[in-house]
Amino acid sequence: MALESRAVPTGRTTPYSPRPFPTADGAVARRAYAVSTIGTKVILAVTGLALFLFLPIHLVGNLLLLVGSDTFNRYARSLESIPVLVPVAEVGLLALFVIHASKAVLNFLANRRARGSNYAAKRPATGGASRKTWASASMIVSGITIGVFVPVHLLQMKFGAYYPVTLDGAPARDLYRLVRELFHDPFVVAFYVFCMVVVGAHIYHGFASAFQSLGAYHPRYAPLVLLLGRGLGVVIGAGFLALPLVMYAAR
Ligand code: HEM
Repeated sequence: MALESRAVPTGRTTPYSPRPFPTADGAVARRAYAVSTIGTKVILAVTGLALFLFLPIHLVGNLLLLVGSDTFNRYARSLESIPVLVPVAEVGLLALFVIHASKAVLNFLANRRARGSNYAAKRPATGGASRKTWASASMIVSGITIGVFVPVHLLQMKFGAYYPVTLDGAPARDLYRLVRELFHDPFVVAFYVFCMVVVGAHIYHGFASAFQSLGAYHPRYAPLVLLLGRGLGVVIGAGFLALPLVMYAAR
């Protein structure tokens, strides 16, 4: 029997068609793709919001750098002294970070593959539900930048030099001195300023986008959530950014 007269039960145009989408099978594949995309978006939203919660706490603690050496070192020591808080927070943050970053990269690559990357021209959407602003288009770039920043930051701070100090009669780590010395270097200051703008931009778009991915979208509240996310992006970015600048200026 000639090949072309054979019925193909899957509905493919040829048995060798590499593209399943125009077929009955394709509909299943398309739905599986959509479901996995939604699942990925939910995971990205949940891990992103959980990671975000760390930032205002970290910012408020770090603002004590502006109060003075003893206050900041006492704060750092008091955190360490709460049993299991630091190890649990560290393991949690690391797990969230790894899941969030790997899912984001895999999602980005899957979207590119599904779309095909050979658009003649890329036109950003204007307004509408997707709100594809410059920030959303650059989420992957800002995410990768943060992915580079965090390990560098941990090496500099958490695993940086241990300066001993006596605090209230007891030995402690002089973290204040470490941060002050780091922020005396203009290159470190420039690196932090750049990364803090990027962190702010990531929140600026990501916050509202996470709520949208979780289905928490209501026409009345959506503009408020958007505004809140943008405000938090600006305030948190600016708050972190002020620290290296102020400490450099006060050197
Ligand atoms: C100017 C801005 C910042 C300053 C001065 C700063 C300062 C510090 C310091 C001093 C530590 C060490 C704490 C310790 O070992 O007890 C630390 C840890 C850490 N920072 Fe920052 N930080 C800044 C911004 C950020 C940002 C924007 C992020 C995330 C995007 C971040 C994520 C972390 C993480 C994950 C840790 C480890 C926490 C832990 O292991 O307990 N930091 N930071």
